Amino acid sequence: MFIKVCALDEIANDECRSLSFKGADYFVVRKEQGIFGFENRCPHLGTSLEFVPNQFLNIDKSLVQCSMHGALFSIDDGLCISGPCEGQQLTLKPVKIEAGHVWLEHQND
Ligand code: FES
Repeated sequence: MFIKVCALDEIANDECRSLSFKGADYFVVRKEQGIFGFENRCPHLGTSLEFVPNQFLNIDKSLVQCSMHGALFSIDDGLCISGPCEGQQLTLKPVKIEAGHVWLEHQND
């Protein structure tokens, strides 16, 4: 099932939104080329990536960054390109835009 993240006009390019649903944590990143959804769980420790709410990107907004360890992840595919989990991947989640809102797919158990 898809869960509502936020209104499309609540998130600008280079911004992120996090959400939790039934014990699962997610975030989305809006870029010029589209919106990317991820599980908010680092592949090496299983913890969430952000320290400040909705802040998931590095300084130049080109990569997802772990606020604790500085690990960097590609926004296109979640691949860690630098840091303790290099070569591992964030889990991408399908995202859609419908009725003026951003929706992310939550896996039903
Ligand atoms: S928790 Fe894995 S890089 Fe920070």
